[in-house]
Amino acid sequence: MNQRALIQALPKAELHVHIEGTFEPELMFAIAQRNQIEIPYKSIEEVKQAYNFHNLQSFLDIYYAGANVLIHEQDFYDLAWAYFKKCAEDHVVHTEMFFDPQTHTDRGVPFGIVINGLQRACNDAQAQFGISSHLIMCFLRHLSEEAAFETLEQALPYKDQIIAVGLDSSEVGHPPSKFERVFAKAREAGFLVVAHAGEEGPAEYVWEALDLLKVNRIDHGVRSEEDPVLMQRLIAEKMPLTVCPLSNLKLKVVDDMQQHNIHRLLQQGVHVTVNSDDPSYFGGYMNDNFYAIAEALDLSNDELKQLAINSFEASFISEQQKQAWSERIHAL
Ligand code: HPA
Ligand code: ZN
Repeated sequence: MNQRALIQALPKAELHVHIEGTFEPELMFAIAQRNQIEIPYKSIEEVKQAYNFHNLQSFLDIYYAGANVLIHEQDFYDLAWAYFKKCAEDHVVHTEMFFDPQTHTDRGVPFGIVINGLQRACNDAQAQFGISSHLIMCFLRHLSEEAAFETLEQALPYKDQIIAVGLDSSEVGHPPSKFERVFAKAREAGFLVVAHAGEEGPAEYVWEALDLLKVNRIDHGVRSEEDPVLMQRLIAEKMPLTVCPLSNLKLKVVDDMQQHNIHRLLQQGVHVTVNSDDPSYFGGYMNDNFYAIAEALDLSNDELKQLAINSFEASFISEQQKQAWSERIHAL
């Protein structure tokens, strides 16, 4: 089988996607219009021209502005449904998607509106496409610890619909240690935990995510390679890193795809997975990320299969389901 066909045929799990980052300009325009909200762009072309990021912060400024048009439950449904259609096209059969409640509650949109819209799309995706999903709510790390505690409180009535808490937004200057107490409380309440660390921030932030937040996975984590002792720890603990190649390229974490370290990490035995992060902003969904690394880094078919197996192994599905997907992949 040629590589593109293999990538398409592989069942895959997506573990690092921000639902607000799947907001395609066409849908953004449609929702802005029906909600009668002004956006600072006159055309879809203008929106796309604004996407010339030079780092994480310049991206986040535009990403938060786009999310401002989301108000009603139906808006959140439409957003997630559009993403599930992409999953179906790319043979993503399971997804664990992030949402940023504070981006919405800070504008007066109730927590329940956000989660009800997303959950309804998840239910329909299961029914229509057979795609399973979990929701992960992220705390915005540029906001205060107190604000994160309030958000955790608002989430408690919806605990059964949220599998984990995460940590995203501007990394440098907002280390995991800032949220040690909130994460302890979240774990006590029964949430699994993940955190963005080692994207723009140093390897030290990955240590903090492991030791202080006690995460089940690291999101990004590519800068872990700068610390050999940390690398040994990640390998020994089989700690997943949810790597996002096109995101790293677009936000200039790497200068070109040939320099991306995902292949080296995989060869050294780190449990890496492939993900799209904010696909509408970074130039591609799951399979585009696979195509980009397969070509630039000359991955073998066995390595592509391993990356797909890793995605299920690192997910929060049952051991039995992990086994079943792994067998399916080996049989390809
Ligand atoms: N990093 C941090 N915060 C984010 C990202 C990211 O890649 N995408 C959306 N919020
Ligand atoms: Zn991310």
